[in-house]
Amino acid sequence: MPQSRDRSSALEPIRRVSQIREYEPEPVPDDVVDQLLELARWTGSAKNGQPWRFIVVRDKDRLKKIAALRPPINWLAGAPLGIAIVLDGAEPMFDAYDEGRLTERLLTGATLLGYGGGTAWFGGPTHDAEAKRILGIPKDLTARQIVMIGRPKSRSDPRPTGPSRGRKPLSELVSFDRFGEPRR
Ligand SMILES: Cc1cc2nc3c(=O)[nH]c(=O)nc-3n(C[C@H](O)[C@H](O)[C@H](O)COP(=O)(O)O)c2cc1C
Repeated sequence: MPQSRDRSSALEPIRRVSQIREYEPEPVPDDVVDQLLELARWTGSAKNGQPWRFIVVRDKDRLKKIAALRPPINWLAGAPLGIAIVLDGAEPMFDAYDEGRLTERLLTGATLLGYGGGTAWFGGPTHDAEAKRILGIPKDLTARQIVMIGRPKSRSDPRPTGPSRGRKPLSELVSFDRFGEPRR
């Protein structure tokens, strides 16, 4: 199956929104943060439940403490700002789906505004609890990640054992009318 990589496509600016892990130190202006929050606010959710809250974190000390939770997210200490996503926890499956949509909006929005973003998962129940303590999030709410935002310094992954870049070709992923059937 041919890959459609029309560079003039309206989709081109967001086709390869990638995970940014190295940032310039310059602050993210309030108007950029506000635009991203507005974009996040309008995310669709199951039954339009909007089960989310956002915490804009600029405090270096708090970011350093979150970065220290586990090595795969230590890069986040170098970002100027993060938006932590908090969910009400009432419907875990919907929460997880809505959280993914929110995250993608934040990463895509940041890219379109000339910034970049990267998600950092706290790392499971013990780390989530510690992150909630650092951010003052009530115990009964769900918090699993913070989406970092800033001007990209590099697109490379500074971690020694990070995953490879690139994606599977569409020929491996897509069928037509019935699973496994090629385009006719
Ligand atoms: C659920 C989820 C959890 C992730 N957790 C981390 C993480 O803890 N640390 C990190 O550096 N990247 C994390 N990532 C980013 C992935 O590594 C990244 O999306 C993937 O490698 C593709 O990167 P690319 O778009 O830059 O090619 C996570 C992504 C997802 C969807």
